[in-house]
Amino acid sequence: MANLPRHFGTDASLDPRTLKVLSEWLVANAGSFRRVVRDPVQPPQDRISQSTWFVQKHREIDARVWRRPAIGSAARCDACHSAAEQGQFSEHDVYMPK
Ligand code: HEC
Repeated sequence: MANLPRHFGTDASLDPRTLKVLSEWLVANAGSFRRVVRDPVQPPQDRISQSTWFVQKHREIDARVWRRPAIGSAARCDACHSAAEQGQFSEHDVYMPK
């Protein structure tokens, strides 16, 4: 949130008020953020998909699966987690597109 003008190659700048509200919400509610922060090793490029926590949770997924056209990359959470938009990442809502 501190570097939004250079957010993974995109300018994601926000006005100060929105930035403050969003930051407070994220600190209070982003569960995976807390798990990643507890990580003794900071993930490369600050990417959740490279954190120890994420890699551990997804260790059974073959490298070729990530590259399937319907998935594309680990950042496309909603490609497999059908309820990602509602913040649901339970294993019951996982569907891996062929
Ligand atoms: C290629 C499909 C795929 C993509 C893309 C993917 N996941 Fe997953 N995810 C899985 C599978 C499969 C599991 C393991 C489900 C299980 O526990 O059996 C999993 C597990 C998880 C879990 C643990 C669920 C639990 O109940 O323990 C979380 C949280 C999660 N993923 C978050 C994410 C996030 C956040 C992203 C995007 C940054 C993401 N996933 C991208 C397939 C995917």
